[in-house]
Amino acid sequence: MKKYKFILFTLLSAIYIIALNSCDVDPVIKNELPANDIHLVIPNGWPYPHYNFTGNVLTKDGFILGRKLFYDPQLSRNNTISCGSCHQHFAAFSHLDHKVSHGIDGKLGNRNAPALFNLNWQTNFMWDGGVNNIEVQPLGPISNPVEMDQSIVNAVNKIQNDVSYSKLFKDAFGAEKVTSQLILKALAQFMGMLVSSNSKYDLYKQGLATLNASELNGLNIFLAKCNTCHTAPLFTNFQYKNNGLDTVYKDPGRGRITLLEADSGTFKVPSLRNVALTRPYMHDGRFNTLSQVLDHYVSGVKNSTTLSSELIGGVILSPLEKLDIISFLNTLSDNTFIHDARFNDPFAP
Ligand code: HEC
Ligand code: HEC
Repeated sequence: MKKYKFILFTLLSAIYIIALNSCDVDPVIKNELPANDIHLVIPNGWPYPHYNFTGNVLTKDGFILGRKLFYDPQLSRNNTISCGSCHQHFAAFSHLDHKVSHGIDGKLGNRNAPALFNLNWQTNFMWDGGVNNIEVQPLGPISNPVEMDQSIVNAVNKIQNDVSYSKLFKDAFGAEKVTSQLILKALAQFMGMLVSSNSKYDLYKQGLATLNASELNGLNIFLAKCNTCHTAPLFTNFQYKNNGLDTVYKDPGRGRITLLEADSGTFKVPSLRNVALTRPYMHDGRFNTLSQVLDHYVSGVKNSTTLSSELIGGVILSPLEKLDIISFLNTLSDNTFIHDARFNDPFAP
């Protein structure tokens, strides 16, 4: 009898220990990722990406760490602003309804926060291409006095002292000590995973969806008049162009980096994927609607020495053609991307 009691006791303790362990999950990470779903997908027909995690092996743990850092306001001086404050998931990681960036203590920057996706295909970052490495890029916003306003040393110390990160750095990089390099590598793993390639247009290209007459007409006009710069499938040719916004440049754009007169007033051609979700538009957020953007191309293009030759005299479009282009641009919204639970804020309630 005694023997059975002992076996029962051992069994119950074992069950108790198993139950205890199964509750022992990191309380901060709420959205468990679908298993084995962290790998870079190169969509059919796309070029090979410029950045493919060489020297920064993409892992689920690295991605989870990068995601937590991306959404962590501790990267800012007073713990109020995270990368996700200006790059919002539901807006394809742009800042909806903000003309220019809105950072620490309500301070305004001078440029519109761009959407973040398909970054691995970009060789240069920022509107002027002033940064050429995705693993270095976050140093800008962290230390920028109107964005997060914190020295990288301070950011590293805060993350090192936050015990909820210890296991994450260990799992991702086998590291006991937090370094700026590891923070940057983890952020690059999160950002590099932001691939948007599942819009209605993509399904149409794969023969899985049909475009209506207006969308189809819009696509054809787009291919004739916009595709030289906003080149499919990424909807950018990655060049710097002046699309006729100004004659005097408050912001010289690419010219600020190269100091060449020929680059003055040119900006990186933005991808038009998800464009219906990322208003306002242009480097300074001057247009609120796609209709205003189309009006600009038809009747607002300003002549200047660096204006791109395709746009001299504006683009000829009838009112109906403008609407058709907008219908087409709407087919570039990727609902799978903006609802992808892997990219959600792990701090969200
Ligand atoms: C206060 C708002 C703000 C915060 C906070 C912020 N960003 Fe940005 N981000 C911007 C703006 C504005 C730009 C464009 C700057 C420019 O062109 O000069 C930008 C550009 C970028 C780009 C380049 C995108 C491209 O297509 O060229 C990346 C990548 C990026 N941010 C990532 C981050 C990361 C990672 C963090 C957190 C460490 C972060 N951002 C924090 C506003 C912000
Ligand atoms: C000569 C190259 C060129 C051509 C042609 C061109 N664009 Fe652009 N487009 C640009 C550049 C450069 C920008 C960014 C300008 C800036 O912010 O200073 C831009 C910005 C935009 C934006 C704003 C995107 C954002 O995220 O802010 C939209 C929308 C757009 N273009 C649509 C079109 C459409 C539609 C056409 C055809 C009617 C077209 N473009 C033709 C170069 C071009």
